[in-house]
Amino acid sequence: MANIFQPPPGTRDFFPADMAVRRYIEDTWRKVSLRHGFVEVDGPTFEVLDLYKVKGGGGDEIVSQLFHFESRGEDKKEFALRPEFTPTLARMVAAKANSLPRPIKWFSIPRCYRAERPQKGRLREFIQWNVDMLGGDTFETRLQFDLETAALALDCLREFGFTADDIRLSWNNRTFVEHFFRLVGFPNERYPFAFALLDRLAKLSSEQRREQYGKNGLTEQQQVFFERMAEGGNPVEESFWDALKIPIGNEFRLEVVMGQRLMDEELTPMGFPGYLKYDPSIVRGLAYYTGFVWEIAGTRGQNRAIAGGGRYDKLIEMFGGPSLPATGFGMGDVVLRNLLEETSKLPANPGPTPDIFLINALRTTDLATQLLAQLRTAKLAAITSYKATKNIGKLLQDASAAGAKLALILAPVEYEKTGGPFVKLKNLATREESEIPLPEILTAILAALAQPPNV
Ligand code: HAM
Repeated sequence: MANIFQPPPGTRDFFPADMAVRRYIEDTWRKVSLRHGFVEVDGPTFEVLDLYKVKGGGGDEIVSQLFHFESRGEDKKEFALRPEFTPTLARMVAAKANSLPRPIKWFSIPRCYRAERPQKGRLREFIQWNVDMLGGDTFETRLQFDLETAALALDCLREFGFTADDIRLSWNNRTFVEHFFRLVGFPNERYPFAFALLDRLAKLSSEQRREQYGKNGLTEQQQVFFERMAEGGNPVEESFWDALKIPIGNEFRLEVVMGQRLMDEELTPMGFPGYLKYDPSIVRGLAYYTGFVWEIAGTRGQNRAIAGGGRYDKLIEMFGGPSLPATGFGMGDVVLRNLLEETSKLPANPGPTPDIFLINALRTTDLATQLLAQLRTAKLAAITSYKATKNIGKLLQDASAAGAKLALILAPVEYEKTGGPFVKLKNLATREESEIPLPEILTAILAALAQPPNV
């Protein structure tokens, strides 16, 4: 017997129903990006491997997840499938920074590849919406850009039907965390290690944590700091530091509290009160973040983050460009789809639905053929049934199942009536029916389609 091949683990086939969901997700991402004034870009699916190894770039974890390969022939070079879009964006911006209008407002919808162990919400091939905003000369403008991109992510999730009950944006600021690292005596060059450990902390058992402390020579105070973080402690609270006998510093505390208030106050006029939560455990796994960092996750269940992002002010320079502050996020289609399904927010017919379903109950097919051609010439999506049945009730069920807005019914009774020919037009949402003289059918269809749905 022939081998039945399976798709590689962690990849997906998109059969028509899955493709419709994918298009629905991508079209919504695109629509919302354009609504906020972002323009679309893309880059190659693979890059030279070294792009991901730039010091201060993504960091060791992302490098360990690369699918890489060598080119054949003389110029043997190492390449990697893109695990994310940000290094490509940084490379593109660095190459043309001076000729690009500022602020740069780009979005992209790339397929990305990570050699992870496939599990719920985590695949080896996924689609990731990226939105990035670069520029901003003052602190206020940069803060506005941080919030505009976060608000855009929330606006999009609202477009999918989520409310503040379903999703939460948890944020932190890496500069706050650096202050904590300073307090427990980490030198600057150990920050990348400390951030990486903090990011993985929730996934480690207490033995694994202890092993990390030992292996990396953490001081007693540093260990207590990480243990308190693992327990869900908040280092902005004075009491967090009691056991450490370190005063957090009132000035700094005030700065953090003011920062929190500012975030809440700024996002409220943008239309998102109640979506935000300061969370000291969010630091993000990618090494290039420099300030504001955030993630959006469902408020129920064990879903991983739908989206994550933040500020990365040094990356463009690291890729040979000018010093250009930047902020942005990525949202994955896998977790988003899971959450849409779990909260029953996926529309029954998410794909592009036909405008009209033609039901031919006449004995001949000439009129049906002509009408379909006429409708398609008028740029309408018109489909019909290939079944032999003339049972209008059954065919109407097929029309509804296909998600068509209207059914055009060619039935002998109407067609042959005196004063005819007439055809029937049925609005499948309202179930309203009317008999239309054949020469007026296109006008009637266009008028019915122009009406808002369910009216
Ligand atoms: P990230 O947190 O690695 O950030 O990914 C962002 C989102 O992509 C995640 O929240 C998740 O929904 C999705 N994602 C990531 N890995 C997988 C996977 N293996 N399977 C399914 N979904 C996945 C970044 O990639 C940053 N480059 C985002 C960014 C853009 N920051 C600034 N600009």
